[in-house]
This record gives sequence, C-alpha cells and structure tokens, in this order.
Amino acid sequence: MSKVTIFNHPLIHHKLSIIRDENTNTKDFRQSVNEIANLMAFEATRNLPLKEVKTKTPISLATTYMLDCEVVIVPILRAGIGMVDGIHSLIPTAKVGHIGLYRNEETLEPQLYYAKFPPTLPNAIVFLVDPMLATGGSAIAAINFIKEHGGKNIKFMSIIAAPEGVERLAKAHPDVQIYCGNIDRQLNEDAYICPGLGDAGDRIFGTK
Ligand code: PRP
Ligand code: URA
Repeated sequence: MSKVTIFNHPLIHHKLSIIRDENTNTKDFRQSVNEIANLMAFEATRNLPLKEVKTKTPISLATTYMLDCEVVIVPILRAGIGMVDGIHSLIPTAKVGHIGLYRNEETLEPQLYYAKFPPTLPNAIVFLVDPMLATGGSAIAAINFIKEHGGKNIKFMSIIAAPEGVERLAKAHPDVQIYCGNIDRQLNEDAYICPGLGDAGDRIFGTK
C-alpha cells in the first residue's frame, strides 16, 4: 500500500478554512490554493536527492548541496493548474507536463482530452497535482497514463481527499506516495467530497 501523508499544520488548517468557505471569492480562493500547494510541496520535497558541490563564499571554500534530480509537475486539468505556481515558486527549474481529464458527471469515469509531457519525464521525480481526490478515478487514470509514458517516480498531491479515493488510489498504485491536506468524511451521492469545498475548477477559474 502507498504511504499516505496528511498535513496537520496550523497554516494549512487556516487556509483550508478559507477555501472551504462558500463566500470566499475567486481571487482569494486561487491564492489560498497556491499557498497550500506551496506548504505541501515544502514537505513533499523533503527527500529529494542532493549532490555535494564546492562553493566559494567571500570568506572561504564551503561544501554545499544542490538538487540532483529533474522535477516535473503534472497538473490534472483544469483544477490542478491552481497548484502549479505555488510549487514552482519553490522549484523554479521544474518542468510542467499537462494531463487533461474531466469527470463525466453521469458515469463518474474520467475522460482524457489532452496530454503533453516534457522529455525528462521517465527520469524525473513527478509531482502529480489535483486539489480534489474524490472517487480516485482521475488520479488513477492520470498515473496509468504517466506510467505508460515512462514515468516511474510519482508522488500525488491533493488538497482535500475522500477516504474512498485514497483507498482506491493506494490499492491501484501502491508505489505512489500520496499527500493530502486533509481527508474529509465521505463522498456524497453525487460523488462530491463532503464537506469538501464544492467544484475546485469552477472556484479557481470563476466559471460558476
Ligand atoms: C475534479 C477534480 C479532479 C476530479 C476528482 O475535476 O479537480 O480532477 O474532479 O474526481 P475523481 O477523484 O472522482 O476522479 P473535474 O472533472 O470537475 O474537472 P475540472 O478540473 O475541469 O473542473
Ligand atoms: N471534484 C471537485 O471539484 N470537487 C469534489 O468534491 C469532487 C470532485
């Protein structure tokens, strides 16, 4: 089974309250989503590989450490785009792949409509991001697709997850580490996360 990390951090709790509030406007919602992604990425990058380098300071030679890996951020369109800037501000050299999936609201099955990955994908540490993990269908389909394109080292980051989605994803892809800002109570009859925050894509882009 996958390792599941749930963030229990005062700043994340505070910002989760902001994005759950139905009165939060689009600008504040988008800003808080990026800030949460930034905080989650700080923890999720804890074990990135480093290489030793020699650096000449104004005083003397120092042994220092720099990242020794390629990082690719893959947002699941649309809502995942809302997390990219927050991660990029920590890892500005990261490349970005895109995978477009929408959830058919009748069958609840994910439909692929777009994909484009950087050539570094097979050797990169891949952060697949989507604010919502509901049934898990979209995340599982995205990971299947990334693996078909050579991706091997994949971490999935969602801001709010349903227990049903976490369990399904962990079973389908036990090698993928899962990070969640919070695991909520359950899915409702329309497969929305309860209490959740509503439709993340609509709230990030102001489409409703
Ligand atoms: C939402 C969300 C996830 C998916 C989660 O996207 O951003 O991608 O649903 O549901 P699942 O775990 O049951 O698959 P949506 O289909 O609403 O598309 P959007 O991002 O374009 O709004
Ligand atoms: N997608 C969302 O945007 N919100 C949910 O609660 C479930 C799926």
